Amino acid sequence: TLNKQESWGSRIGLILAMAGNAVGLGNFLRFPMQAVQNGGGAFIIPYIVCFLLMGIPMLWIEWATGRFGGRYGNHSTPFILDKMTKSNFWKYFGVFGIFTNIGVAAYYCYIESWTMAYVYHSIMQTFSGKTQIEVASFFNSYVDVTYSTTGIPYEAVIFYLVCLALNTYILSRGLSEGIEKVAKIGMPLLLLFGAFLAVRGLTLGDSGAPEGCTDCNAYLGLNFLWEPKFESVLDPKVWLAAAGQIFFTLSVGMGTIQCYASYVKSRDDIALNAMSAGFMNGFVEIVLGASIVIPIAVGYLGLDWVLENAGFSMAFQTMPYLFGQWGPFLATVAGVMWFGLLFFAGITSSLAMGTPWMGFMRDEFNWSREKAAWSFGLVTLIMGLPTVFFFQQGVFDEYDYWAGTVSLVIFALAESLIFAWLFGIRRGWREINLGADIRVPRFYKPILKYVTPLLLLAVFLSALVTPKNNDWEAAFSGNWELDASSIIGKIQHKGVVANQSYFSDVLESEVAGVV
Ligand code: PHE
Ligand code: NA
Repeated sequence: TLNKQESWGSRIGLILAMAGNAVGLGNFLRFPMQAVQNGGGAFIIPYIVCFLLMGIPMLWIEWATGRFGGRYGNHSTPFILDKMTKSNFWKYFGVFGIFTNIGVAAYYCYIESWTMAYVYHSIMQTFSGKTQIEVASFFNSYVDVTYSTTGIPYEAVIFYLVCLALNTYILSRGLSEGIEKVAKIGMPLLLLFGAFLAVRGLTLGDSGAPEGCTDCNAYLGLNFLWEPKFESVLDPKVWLAAAGQIFFTLSVGMGTIQCYASYVKSRDDIALNAMSAGFMNGFVEIVLGASIVIPIAVGYLGLDWVLENAGFSMAFQTMPYLFGQWGPFLATVAGVMWFGLLFFAGITSSLAMGTPWMGFMRDEFNWSREKAAWSFGLVTLIMGLPTVFFFQQGVFDEYDYWAGTVSLVIFALAESLIFAWLFGIRRGWREINLGADIRVPRFYKPILKYVTPLLLLAVFLSALVTPKNNDWEAAFSGNWELDASSIIGKIQHKGVVANQSYFSDVLESEVAGVV
């Protein structure tokens, strides 16, 4: 079939597409907030350890098993896992992975559609001359779909539909004509916009500090994120957050990497490619992701304010207002660059989420590319409508929790066990090194066999039964009580929305709006 002939156009195209897959809203929105909420420089050490002991190994596992599957004409995890194991069970488990993609794509595309809307409103100068509270409340009326501030009824719904249609159309064009082309345009622009905003952020110093503000200095923000602190190195909560961020940001645990890698020729390198994509994502996250929102916000509003209000909302509720301090022209340029950057980061990732579904439908039912793409768009739309219409009721958070966090860890855990113990570490190690352009350090073999699965298990178990108030010290000293925000706690208290998600603060506009 056509599917089997499909492949990447060039190595640089593959690298850019894989980097596009990994580099996403997670790098620019999720990382800075996770870092701030977990003690800034205290987050960095667990983050780097998780990257080296779980992130990089999982990348090798997913690239290797993806290319392995592609050799047999399989392009999605159900078939790949089936080929790797003897039991039928893993095939069905793989189908669960495909639905994780749909669940994440549903809310991810919704944020992506906001970035489109905010590019539009930056060009239309909607935010010019507005106070901070007005800019913040614009967002709240935007996500209240029944209410219109700009005269466009159901604006959020319209942008969501446009965003899904665009994703679907690009997917229907195929790998090299669709995804690869978007990555080739989007990734360089993203880096350019990111560099511009980072330089602007880093040269800000205290030039924007309002009279009397003593902690309004961009460097304080950067310093807070980067200066390693050792005090919370033993805090499981910080480790959990770091591991979660590593999975999300590397796109691990969903099957998108396997799908992309299944189109790599069977003797082409994966070892170096996997590492390059991983390090590129890390660079964009730690350098660019850390140099924009936080430093700029600290420059104007102060470190204390940012520590108190840091959250997802800052990107949409605070940034347009701060850009406004740079005069009308630069405000427009910065707005287009910031939301344009987020858009490119988002779309190159949401396209990736469509590919496992497409690969499965095409392999299993011989569907055409168009049919596979439009069915993905339709299913995502159906899954996504609740997040759009019931956003203020917290549906969004539920999706992010179950699809975007819990499922990733479970899936990654299964993958690492299958790879090292069912497929077998000897075969696995050979797969990784086949055609490799680097020598993978030998100590990664025992890491892949023992350390990665055990760490994943530890992460999963501690999320399953988190102690009350996340107080591990009390728990270890015998005062055991289950927290409502643990996985089991959430299942028992069905309907109660956890308030620790990084999205829920969007709803607290008053807090975010007041300086
Ligand atoms: N890695 C992407 C980000 O950082 C998100 C993503 C997760 C993309 C899973 C594809 C698959 O935003
Ligand atoms: Na990322």
